Amino acid sequence: MKILVTGGCGFIGSNFIRLLLETRDYEIINLDALTYAGNPENLKDLENHPRYRFIRGRIEDSSLAGSIMKEVDSVVNFAAESHVDRSILKASPFIATNVMGTQVLLDAFRQCECRGVFVHVSTDEVYGSLGPDDPPFREDDPLLPNSPYSASKASSDLFCRAAWKTFGLPVVITRCSNNYGPFQFPEKLIPLMIINSLEKRPLPVYGDGQNVRDWIFVEDHCRGCLAAMEKGRPGAIYNFGGQCEKKNLEVVGAILKKLGLSRDLIQFVKDRPGHDRRYAMDAGLAMKELGWRPEVSFGDGIDRTVEWYIENRQWWERIISGEYLDYYRTQYGQ
Ligand code: NAD
Ligand code: DAU
Repeated sequence: MKILVTGGCGFIGSNFIRLLLETRDYEIINLDALTYAGNPENLKDLENHPRYRFIRGRIEDSSLAGSIMKEVDSVVNFAAESHVDRSILKASPFIATNVMGTQVLLDAFRQCECRGVFVHVSTDEVYGSLGPDDPPFREDDPLLPNSPYSASKASSDLFCRAAWKTFGLPVVITRCSNNYGPFQFPEKLIPLMIINSLEKRPLPVYGDGQNVRDWIFVEDHCRGCLAAMEKGRPGAIYNFGGQCEKKNLEVVGAILKKLGLSRDLIQFVKDRPGHDRRYAMDAGLAMKELGWRPEVSFGDGIDRTVEWYIENRQWWERIISGEYLDYYRTQYGQ
């Protein structure tokens, strides 16, 4: 079986490809545009793996998507613009990749009559924000996205639903809460706070720091995506979450504690516009139908993550210095 993984040079996609190559016999094509968030170094040790091929390109390129789709059985679509703050500054790249790109892939999948499934990787942010006493999000909750990022993801989810309803395309949608772990680009809360702590720089906490996220270690999410691909019911939506709600200040405090640093580094800054207050996921359906559950505790996950950033200083120093942009221009052409 051959799988097209899109966005495989990003944070979750690269962890997913690693999991696939380690635990399955599938052949993999990784289609990635290498945007600022895509880093070929994330898979450097697997570049010459006999069952792995990298193609640089955009998912919105219909002729490229069409030619790749002729070769593959299933698709797992991770490719996206993924950062909420960037979407607030400029929404159009989010519409191009997350909405248009997903539809191009769905069209190519249909035209090539692929035999497998189309897994679309989405997010809890499509449900909007919870109040302090609300129950966790369920798959049949209304879509109430609040940021341009989450609006683009909700739109792509709806195009996936339409492909299932209109054309009977075997689409499975997954929605996951906040991931953390190795290879996460240091614009997101946890890697940013780890790197700033290591550099003794201020830790910018938005607003009052009381916003709640449901944290999941990236490997748990990747196992969920794999289960959705292998066992998911066409047309179904599966929520994944870490069953681990934490306020942002608790997360930052855990990082500082692990590094033996003082909370004096914390600096409260202007809040994110439209900042969602709380996310939490009810993953009961995935547990029942896919036999999935999160396995890594927050304590273990944060220890492994902090240690990874300590041991892989060169990886993030290249990113924050801009050096890796030159690296991939030389390796892959621009
Ligand atoms: P990321 O930003 O680290 O990686 C995105 C990858 O997609 C990069 O390698 C980038 O080069 C590639 N890409 C971007 N635009 C592309 C295009 N037009 N064509 C081809 N490739 C393109 O993102 P991530 O955190 O790994 O997230 C992956 C997916 O999981 C996204 O769809 C995101 O919405 C979803 N998700 C993320 C989280 C999280 O906490 N990070 C949680 C739930 C869902
Ligand atoms: O919930 C899933 C989503 O999680 C994914 O769909 C997104 O792709 C991913 O980026 C993430 O979105 P968030 O906006 O929740 O993640 P982020 O790491 O940007 O922020 C987490 C929380 O921390 C949020 O409440 C904002 C806050 N924050 C973030 C940054 C970058 C700060 O207080 N300071 C910061 O510097």
